[in-house]
Amino acid sequence: MAEPIPPHLVVLTGAGISAESGIQTFRADDGLWADHPIEEVATPEAWRRDPGRVLAFYNARRDQVRRARPNAAHQALAALEKAGLRVSIVTQNIDDLHERAGSRRVLHLHGEILKARSTVDRRMHYPLPRGGIELGDVCDKGSQLRPDVVWFGEAVPHFGEACDLVAEADLLLVVGTSLAVMPAASLLHHAPLDAPCVLVDPEAEALAPPGVTRLARPAGEGVPALVRHWKREGRLWMPEALLA
Ligand code: APR
Repeated sequence: MAEPIPPHLVVLTGAGISAESGIQTFRADDGLWADHPIEEVATPEAWRRDPGRVLAFYNARRDQVRRARPNAAHQALAALEKAGLRVSIVTQNIDDLHERAGSRRVLHLHGEILKARSTVDRRMHYPLPRGGIELGDVCDKGSQLRPDVVWFGEAVPHFGEACDLVAEADLLLVVGTSLAVMPAASLLHHAPLDAPCVLVDPEAEALAPPGVTRLARPAGEGVPALVRHWKREGRLWMPEALLA
């Protein structure tokens, strides 16, 4: 007899899942964009105007990521995959905390801070020179290296793949995102109509679109609680007990 197909959990994560690991989110009052305006550090125009400033901003982000460790939320998702469920993670985060926790299927919508690429050919990737990218570090075609991240105004190369994954979800778990950025936020519309969608975020009451179940807790508490139920039963569902 054929093995039963394990249920497919698709997880969309944002900066909030890494907050308890010490990585700053973006849109909080003390978030990254408060001190570093987007148009000065995270657009192609900013890069053309002042690449040194952009590199310094991302070198600091990289240092923060290197100091951070995966937290209970990253670890719970990795443990669920290890227990045999299909878990696909689509993350807006540029850190590698899902991978370091042990998750194997991770799609980075907005790129990866620990990679460098050419400015003339996005397929040319390079190991990070001396741990950070400086002005004068160039690719084989002689153009300046840049962080392999997606800036505002740039295309999101893996978006189609992310849509396909979400369209296969038996449950869509959304964690720690303000859902303020397109096209990532529109992924919720690609979930099958009969698949439950749950948002774990302290601000879930205010942020969740209609039809989305709200679990207003920090990721490090809400995600492991859900995962405990799912592992125990081997199926994906929304335990009412957690909503009380
Ligand atoms: N657990 C879960 N969620 C949390 C926690 C926590 N401990 N702490 C904060 N949050 C939530 C906030 O309530 C907020 O909804 O994390 C969310 C962070 O939102 P943003 O700062 O807007 O980050 P994100 O949604 O990931 O931003 C999307 O925008 O700036 C760009 O490219 C950047 O990938 C980023 C994208």
